Amino acid sequence: MELKVGNEQDIRTWEEVQLVYHSALKQINTKIEIINDEFQEVHRYNPIEHIKSRIKSSESIVKKLKRHGYEPTIENMVKYINDIAGIRVICSFTSDIYRIADIISNQSDLSILAIKDYIQNPKSSGYRSYHMVVTIPVCLSDRIIDTKVEIQIRTVAMDFWASLEHKIQYKFEGNAPAHINTELTECAHMVSELDARMLSLNNEIQEIAALMERERQEQSR
Ligand code: GTP
Ligand code: MG
Repeated sequence: MELKVGNEQDIRTWEEVQLVYHSALKQINTKIEIINDEFQEVHRYNPIEHIKSRIKSSESIVKKLKRHGYEPTIENMVKYINDIAGIRVICSFTSDIYRIADIISNQSDLSILAIKDYIQNPKSSGYRSYHMVVTIPVCLSDRIIDTKVEIQIRTVAMDFWASLEHKIQYKFEGNAPAHINTELTECAHMVSELDARMLSLNNEIQEIAALMERERQEQSR
């Protein structure tokens, strides 16, 4: 039997939405775990601290559709909502973010739909992260569905900031007092500075380690 290559428009029910997006998440999760395992085995280096993933709840999807002026239908959901399936990759250093993003971009079965680099261009709130929207083919029994997944890549420090900022915005429904927003933006600058200093410290440590290794090899000759 020849499998029909479809797109997300071939999804008809909420049960199918959950199945397809859940499968897409599983595949991306596995891909990223494999990349991490390879780094661990081959390079003795762990670029990923941890990975989190989630399927957006039906309530949040409907709310977002309404906010953007769309009827809450399955068709609109799969067409307009890019983050039904979301995965967050937390790295140690900013350089790891670009390394992971680059490897993801080079996976032959993934297509990149959009990239937003909020590290080069932080939001006015101070938010920093690297976002990608990709599609991955999900093979069902009778068809293949190219499915969107939003990937957010950030450092531990960026994640710390984003989760607190999210909690605050949620608590104040987006209208936090001005001094709290100012404080948050200042903290974002500190996070950015911290990431830069930790990266340069790590680079120095790597250089010293490489030098010591060379000396050790010369002495044992
Ligand atoms: P959403 O409608 O919120 O999904 O945003 P968008 O479609 O304009 O895309 P964008 O890349 O700006 O944001 C996608 C996701 O990134 C959001 O759903 C959040 O998870 C995260 N994000 C974006 N901006 C912020 C921010 O200022 N603070 C925090 N904490 N998270 C943010
Ligand atoms: Mg979102």
